[in-house]
Amino acid sequence: MILVTGATGTIGGHVVRLLIERGVPFRAMSRRERPGGVRADFDDPASLARAVVGVDTVFLVTVPPVPTADHDIALLAAARAAGVRKIVKLSAIGSGERFDGGTVGAWHLAAEEAIQASGLAWTMLRPPSFGSNFLWYRALIQAGQPIPALTGDARQAVVDPRDVAAVAVAAMTSDAHDGQRYDLTGPELLTFADQASILERVLGRPVEITDAGAPDQLPAGVITGIRWARAGGAAYVTDHVRRVLGRPGGTFEQWARDHREAFAAMP
Ligand SMILES: NC(=O)c1ccc[n+]([C@@H]2O[C@H](COP(=O)([O-])OP(=O)(O)OC[C@H]3O[C@@H](n4cnc5c(N)ncnc54)[C@H](OP(=O)(O)O)[C@@H]3O)[C@@H](O)[C@H]2O)c1
Repeated sequence: MILVTGATGTIGGHVVRLLIERGVPFRAMSRRERPGGVRADFDDPASLARAVVGVDTVFLVTVPPVPTADHDIALLAAARAAGVRKIVKLSAIGSGERFDGGTVGAWHLAAEEAIQASGLAWTMLRPPSFGSNFLWYRALIQAGQPIPALTGDARQAVVDPRDVAAVAVAAMTSDAHDGQRYDLTGPELLTFADQASILERVLGRPVEITDAGAPDQLPAGVITGIRWARAGGAAYVTDHVRRVLGRPGGTFEQWARDHREAFAAMP
């Protein structure tokens, strides 16, 4: 039995679809009551204890409002008590890099370290920006308003979230990826402007961007990561998606083509 946390989110949603397609038994976790799912909250240890009963493997997605490893550690405690065997954690590229007096993804790194120290089997997935982040800006794009280029002119190997999910499923359904830390990049380096012009071509409408600099109203841990990416820290491509899936990762253009309708619908 697999417990999918973040099951209503971007990557967890794709993981759920793949597990259904493959007939793999799983339990989808959400803070809301949903048919066939388990209702649990990382801030409620008793609910986590219920969610992990009879579970062998956990797909761990955390998005705490303030970046700490508390949610990962709460799940880890419940998992250990219930005899869970493996955790596949969604982390982020560059976690642990030192930059500008701070640490990139410090909370993800702390969570990775706690999982590694726990004695459970693990796989860490470290993607860069998801192509799907452009969906955050649907309303601005529809209104013809510019969208913020947080990473300035820096290039990143933006990844298709479906590939991240496919690697997660591979790691959860085989022992071949135990103890691996994968940097799950897409196949090509693109600036935010490159992505906007690809989207513009696919949608057939203007997609304007504006560079207002790295935002300073976000939590410190997040800002360090954005500044690191702005300085080109994430400007590299790996073959980890191909290594796991036996095919190259999808391009941003393909992702955009497959989601054309989503940009036409009201957000
Ligand atoms: N976006 C990127 O470009 C990017 C790049 C690299 C790494 N990442 C990492 O990816 C992760 C985010 O993944 P995602 O984009 O798939 O997530 P997402 O779409 O933001 O979804 C968040 C999920 O977390 C669940 N959730 C939130 N608070 C919860 C709580 N207190 N207890 C239980 N569940 C809770 C939500 O479920 P309910 O609302 O149904 O409860 C939802 O399913 C983050 O760790 C981020 O650092 C993101």
